[in-house]
Amino acid sequence: MKLVKRQDGFLPALFLLMTLFLAACSADAPRIPYDALDFDLADAGSGEKLFNQSNNEAPACAACHSISGGSSGIGNSLAGIGGVAAERVAGQSAEEYLYWSIIRPGRHLVAGYANIMYAGYEDSLEAADIADLIAYLLSL
Ligand code: HEC
Repeated sequence: MKLVKRQDGFLPALFLLMTLFLAACSADAPRIPYDALDFDLADAGSGEKLFNQSNNEAPACAACHSISGGSSGIGNSLAGIGGVAAERVAGQSAEEYLYWSIIRPGRHLVAGYANIMYAGYEDSLEAADIADLIAYLLSL
């Protein structure tokens, strides 16, 4: 009787633990890892186009970000972001910081701004698009 009872609770609990473990792992892994970006092939001109147009129903970056000084009201101005990006998070290169800013905007918030950047670029952009966008941002 005692043994049956222990088995009853043990297997579901083990199953639950494994499910939680797998969910925790996959929830955090980016669909496109940073290593998939090929900066040798990145094209700032294509990045500029992407920045200014909406893609796969995702809003254009330009809808929220200006590239001149001053704020557009929703996102911060990205004027000079190429130089700023390397200083944002200790241990992250400018390229890495910009990568995370695009695919996981909530990871690091610019002071004074809320976590309201569109969070679906991880699904709507491909590795080459992200590399192109980063090449463009680095030129600002
Ligand atoms: C719905 C509005 C919105 C859209 C669309 C948007 N952003 Fe943002 N973005 C923000 C806001 C607000 C912040 C500041 C809060 C934060 O850090 O997430 C931000 C932060 C950033 C930062 C960090 C800037 C810094 O000074 O450290 C980068 C880089 C960036 N966005 C790039 C992009 C790119 C590239 C796109 C298009 C692929 C884009 N954003 C689309 C609102 C937006």
